[in-house]
Amino acid sequence: MSVSILKGRVAIVTGASRGLGEGIARAFTGEGAVVAMFSRDAQRLQEHSAALKEMGQEAVAFPVDVADVAQVNRAVEQVVSEFGRVDILVNNAAVAPSMLFVEMPDDVRDGVIDVNIKGVWNCTRAVMPHMLKQRYGKVINISSVTGPMVSGKGMTAYAASKGAVSGFTRTLALEVAEYGINVNAICPGSFDTPMFRSVAGKRGWSSDDEYVKHVGKEIPLGRLGTIEEMGDLAVFLASDKSKYITGAEIVIDGGNIIQEHKG
Ligand SMILES: NC(=O)c1ccc[n+]([C@@H]2O[C@H](COP(=O)([O-])OP(=O)(O)OC[C@H]3O[C@@H](n4cnc5c(N)ncnc54)[C@H](O)[C@@H]3O)[C@@H](O)[C@H]2O)c1
Repeated sequence: MSVSILKGRVAIVTGASRGLGEGIARAFTGEGAVVAMFSRDAQRLQEHSAALKEMGQEAVAFPVDVADVAQVNRAVEQVVSEFGRVDILVNNAAVAPSMLFVEMPDDVRDGVIDVNIKGVWNCTRAVMPHMLKQRYGKVINISSVTGPMVSGKGMTAYAASKGAVSGFTRTLALEVAEYGINVNAICPGSFDTPMFRSVAGKRGWSSDDEYVKHVGKEIPLGRLGTIEEMGDLAVFLASDKSKYITGAEIVIDGGNIIQEHKG
């Protein structure tokens, strides 16, 4: 008999309308959690939560811009008043404009900082008092290998923002460890999502399918990661199977960054 390892847990997943956030939200509901899906794309969110409910799983959509602290605070209060607690926060929402440093306007840079750093800050700030009171919580920050470990041209703002997420993850992990709260980061390599496909044109590819195939061939495991595989890792970090792990950055990249030579 299979056991639902997140049964009874209440989770918030940001950027849950598509890509990795969608995969994580599905994996959590599949393991019995109630999931509050935060994203700006209200229509897609409604469709997902309706589809999950039809499958007998519990997901509720909240249209939230994570960069807007008032919207975040309101939505977190709604989650707590509706479900009584919040056990898991996945800070997944992010933007990734690819633009050379000398060409990047300040407003594009600020957009990255607002979503990728302040968004993580806002959501964590809003849930933390509840987790401290419960003396229980799991914060999972979706970072990247880009920034903390490697980088590419055009990624100054994005890489800087993910580097900030690393420092934030470690420091907060230290501050809340004594309350039984785990704070970890996941560093994905290349996953097949709309964000990943959106850079194909900028990298000179006329077809995003061809780009996905090309990148996949250079990865030791021979392909990009799937949103289901990201869901599996997030479930592990959200569950008590990982309770002695905190302040860690876990790479999930099919072996890509350990290669000395590609191909
Ligand atoms: N796909 C990859 O290969 C890859 C690699 C490394 C890291 N990541 C990280 O994984 C996470 C998810 O990436 P993805 O590829 O699924 O991206 P995506 O662009 O496909 O999805 C991002 C989601 O975030 C939401 N979002 C963006 N700004 C928001 C805001 N202000 N408020 C609320 N929601 C907002 C979008 O609506 C969307 O649902 C990001 O943190 C990204 O940096 C992805």
